[in-house]
Amino acid sequence: MSAVRSYVETFSAYWHPVAFSRELTERPLAARLLETDLVLWRTGTGVAVTHRRCAHRGADLSAGEVTPDGLRCGFHGWAYGADGRCVHVPSQPGVPIPARARVSSFRATERYGLIWVCLAPEPAAPLPEWPELEDGSVATVALPHLDWEVSAGRMVEVVLDVAHLSWVHRGTFGNPEQQEVPPYEVERRPDGVRARIVYPALSPAVDGVPARVDRTTLTYDVTYPFAARLAFKPTLFYVHTVYAIASPLSEESMRCFYFCSYHPRLQNHFPAMFVKSELAILEQDRRVLEGVRPRAHPVDFAGEVHTPADRLPVEYRRGIIALRMGAPVDAPAPD
Ligand code: FES
Ligand SMILES: [Fe+2]
Repeated sequence: MSAVRSYVETFSAYWHPVAFSRELTERPLAARLLETDLVLWRTGTGVAVTHRRCAHRGADLSAGEVTPDGLRCGFHGWAYGADGRCVHVPSQPGVPIPARARVSSFRATERYGLIWVCLAPEPAAPLPEWPELEDGSVATVALPHLDWEVSAGRMVEVVLDVAHLSWVHRGTFGNPEQQEVPPYEVERRPDGVRARIVYPALSPAVDGVPARVDRTTLTYDVTYPFAARLAFKPTLFYVHTVYAIASPLSEESMRCFYFCSYHPRLQNHFPAMFVKSELAILEQDRRVLEGVRPRAHPVDFAGEVHTPADRLPVEYRRGIIALRMGAPVDAPAPD
């Protein structure tokens, strides 16, 4: 069996979001991905991403300013182009710029209202395909960043975890009467996993409105490594779709970019309701998840116990382990 590759090496080859597009204005923005400190700024043609430390004396380039020449460091005014090369040293005009006066630069792209970065020279896979976000048919609303002390893989597993709904989410939408998880199918694909279940979600009684059970169809769709899309289709209401993309800060911590698409007709009421209820639901998850050990996502199945009810997170983990091994994700599972 091939060796497990390091976490940083494995996931550096993929696109990860590092900011919402609206966060990057005319000022440079600091970001972190896979133990690497980055600075982002807007050029005339797109988004530039480089290491955050100036090559001259290690100043923080995110405290600098964006100029027509490039990103200018606030300490001595050196300016860097989008390729990370220093293009201007104000203290030495007319003198060749040292070849080592450069910072590493990385690929960046903007899509779905997010800025995505790949630390490797060539991405191993494309961005997730979510065409509904680009055809004008839905509106979206985003939550603030979720900065949690848990691995990105464990975060995705909890999004996929069917058996926890009736326990962890009591009081929000969990139904304590429905603890058994009926058998369900999981589709394994080269780029992710998919599943569909029906869950009798329980809306608690609020303000005199009685509690109500609604059989909600949940459609799970993960794109490796850490992008989950989860559609909620109640019988009595419009569908809404949650997008949770866990961006790995390190092997044990992540920043999740979390947003939702919904029918534009709901524009007046839905966004505020979604943000409030989703923050309550996610706080229930955070309290459990940050207590889980090890924080890192296991690269085997030996240290934990698995049941058929855990099938979807287990199949997801199989794919992640395959990536760590440098194997195709739909290859036979390692035991
Ligand atoms: S430390 Fe950045 S220009 Fe000197
Ligand atoms: Fe949850």
